[in-house]
Amino acid sequence: MARIEADDLRKVFRSPDKRPGLAGSLRHLVERRYSEKVAVDGISLRVDEGEAVAYVGPNGAGKSTTIKLLTGILVPTSGEVRVNGIVPHRNRVENARGIGVVFGQRTSLWWDLAVRDSLELLRDMHGLSTAEYWANLDRLVEMLGIGDLLSSTARRLSLGQRMRADLAAALLHDPPIVYLDEPTIGLDIEVKDRLRAFLRQIVAEGTTLVLTTHDLGEIEDVCSRLVIIDHGRIVHDGGLRQVIETYARERVMHVDLAARPVSLAGIATRLAGATVIEERDGLGVAVTFDPLAHTAGDVLTAIQAELQVVDLRIKEPAIEDVVRRVYAGQLIPGPDDSPDDSPDDSPVR
Ligand SMILES: Nc1ncnc2c1ncn2[C@@H]1O[C@H](COP(=O)(O)OP(=O)(O)OP(=O)(O)O)[C@@H](O)[C@H]1O
Ligand SMILES: [Mg+2]
Repeated sequence: MARIEADDLRKVFRSPDKRPGLAGSLRHLVERRYSEKVAVDGISLRVDEGEAVAYVGPNGAGKSTTIKLLTGILVPTSGEVRVNGIVPHRNRVENARGIGVVFGQRTSLWWDLAVRDSLELLRDMHGLSTAEYWANLDRLVEMLGIGDLLSSTARRLSLGQRMRADLAAALLHDPPIVYLDEPTIGLDIEVKDRLRAFLRQIVAEGTTLVLTTHDLGEIEDVCSRLVIIDHGRIVHDGGLRQVIETYARERVMHVDLAARPVSLAGIATRLAGATVIEERDGLGVAVTFDPLAHTAGDVLTAIQAELQVVDLRIKEPAIEDVVRRVYAGQLIPGPDDSPDDSPDDSPVR
């Protein structure tokens, strides 16, 4: 079942042009000029129940704007959006019951209230029964490790503590859909790990998650689908493994050698299509190969037939590499480049 349905969503921000030198009192006499910024430019997206979607793209791509449209904070300039079957910006109260939102750069806690008091206010706002409140709170306190923070004011919390308290606030009413916009920005590794584990757990329990982040490790850990946007448009949408398999299949085998080789040509001849380059001042070799064409065993055999190998490592492409290439404009899928293409003899990209 689709939890989130967006159809050709657009958001254009219009702001009055600044006209330097023109006296304020005269400004209304002249024609007003506006500049327009197309932040979201025709996004269509369907997210099913229980899916965990990573929504990534370079700075200014339109990620936060999309989240604001999906959560009903902004009204779209055109296009349709339905979340849990309702139009978020028209049914704000009903919408709020079905979603949890965290924007990493701000807090939804009341600064001068103890966290516990903020949570109690949210309990009342969501109309939770005492039993529901305690059941959800106990679980969140346990999973997020925030027992000690409940009596602090939000103002006194560190960034990592505040983020965990914010997540508890966003999830207190057990919403089926959770939007997180850069939830781990500025957090240390330990807190990030804790949050990742937490997110994995709520996804395993059936929560639908849309996660915006620049931390690509987080994506691999938590999400199964990757949507990449640039300039307000979706440039890729597909399974996470599939992206890697489609766009970055190649593996690199690095070997350390006992002695400098005379030539590497023999290896290249044995491994058609692979790239062989010297490393470590001649005491190493890197072979880039397509695992569909050669197994790692084939590659090692070919190298050992020519050279004496001391040690080896194999590097698989990370999602980082794929996304970096998309950001660099190198991987915009075209008609001949669809992820559905069966793996064939096409050159490794
Ligand atoms: N309220 C606004 N008024 C005018 N322009 C805006 C407004 N909000 C966002 N924009 C512009 O819309 C574009 C998309 O912004 P958005 O915040 O959605 O990007 P983002 O993908 O979240 O980027 P980041 O990775 O930096 O968070 C940017 O060019 C931004 O300057
Ligand atoms: Mg943003």
